[in-house]
Amino acid sequence: MSVTAEDFTRTLTRVPAPVTVVTTVDHGGRRFGFTGSAFSSLSLDPPLVLVCLAKTASTHAAFVAADRFLVNILAHDQHEVATRFATSGVDRFAAGDMTPAELGLPGLPGAAARLGCAVHAVHEGGDHSILIGRVLSVHIGQETPLAYLDRGFVRPVPTN
Ligand SMILES: Cc1cc2nc3c(=O)[nH]c(=O)nc-3n(C[C@H](O)[C@H](O)[C@H](O)COP(=O)(O)O)c2cc1C
Repeated sequence: MSVTAEDFTRTLTRVPAPVTVVTTVDHGGRRFGFTGSAFSSLSLDPPLVLVCLAKTASTHAAFVAADRFLVNILAHDQHEVATRFATSGVDRFAAGDMTPAELGLPGLPGAAARLGCAVHAVHEGGDHSILIGRVLSVHIGQETPLAYLDRGFVRPVPTN
């Protein structure tokens, strides 16, 4: 039995996902970033996280060559940042809302959390690469995190 691409993607719209903007800087000081919902914790000891990046992304070459990256866990009021860092052909940093944060990498001051990572491994994942980061430095913010569900941005609310 096979699953169509539409069934696959529609099914995954039912999965609440985090919204991150992952950033890095190359040896020339050029900044790169993309919006990624395929983010997960992976290991406690050592502390590892992963994010999946499409091989077709304009930022792919920079991230697979990087030795570190920063995961910004977006806050509920940062959906415009998420949209900008998912938009092709624009200067995603032009708004000036990123400042040097953990590991000196571009970070959002109002993020719900940030994880500064050393690249631990890069694995194959079909049409994506799986970037595994060893967490070296964290920042825990106060804001409610943003989530992505049913093809839209949502603000999670407690059930009680
Ligand atoms: C909410 C949201 C989540 C996304 N999650 C991912 C992801 O986990 N991995 C990925 O490769 N692209 C993801 N994208 C798409 C990228 O942000 C970006 O649009 C894509 O890499 C194309 O950008 P490019 O112009 O750099 O090639 C997501 C986009 C949105 C809006």
